Amino acid sequence: MDWGMENRLAQVIPSDGRCLFMPIDHGYFQGPTRNLENPWNTLEPLLPYSDAVFVTRGVLRSCIVPAKSKPIVLRVSGGTSMVGDNLANEGITTSMEEAIRLNASAVGISVFIGSDYEKENLLNLSSLVSEGERYGIPVMAVTAVGRELEKRDARYLGLCCRIAAELGAKVVKTYWCEEFDKVVDGCPVPVIMAGGPQVDTEREVFDFVHDGMVRGAIGVNLGRNIWQNEAPVAMIRAIRYIVHEGGTAEEADELYQSAKTGVR
Ligand code: 5RP
Repeated sequence: MDWGMENRLAQVIPSDGRCLFMPIDHGYFQGPTRNLENPWNTLEPLLPYSDAVFVTRGVLRSCIVPAKSKPIVLRVSGGTSMVGDNLANEGITTSMEEAIRLNASAVGISVFIGSDYEKENLLNLSSLVSEGERYGIPVMAVTAVGRELEKRDARYLGLCCRIAAELGAKVVKTYWCEEFDKVVDGCPVPVIMAGGPQVDTEREVFDFVHDGMVRGAIGVNLGRNIWQNEAPVAMIRAIRYIVHEGGTAEEADELYQSAKTGVR
């Protein structure tokens, strides 16, 4: 790997090889998501516990204080919305030149595999990788499922991750699922877990994050289950404990409960 590419990857994936990305990109297709109405207010207390921030150029420029930021994974796909008919028909919204000007450490693009637009999505990924290789910018592929949450099984997600890696993504973000090791084992590049909509209990989050890590994920890109929680800092600290310290779900839950009440 070229020095620049390797250096940028090391900015977002620390030396232990594990990572916690903080995604605040949701507004690019769903508008002012709950608790993300003011992105900086949400993000600032979480920054000390985040390795990188996943964000669009608009929110980056308008809301993130440059001197206080963490490394940026710039979302560069979009162009559709949750109220339109063709959510999967995303294009590339931001050039590699602009990503470099914004000092992005990596760029991220969604691919909706199995949708009517999979060919366009995948060729966009491929073009982005070609640009990234030219300038030394790693590409994170996001295996998006849109509204079809039932697609989240190891066979489908494994197929998505493998295709993204074959096209040159340096890292793949996907959803956790049962038998997650099958997803990881079939993917020759590191796999990161997204969170999805907020679940009922914190323990469910700790359980799937722990299971995914044990089965080979290198980390998380997990947003709503952190910043929509009633105690976001306690939540991110607990998840960080699993990701970077190898903590169990039970230990993370204990840390969450005590951090929430101000004991730790
Ligand atoms: C939105 C994204 C998010 O970055 C990703 O889904 C992670 O956030 P969450 O944990 O809230 O699902 O790609 O399109």
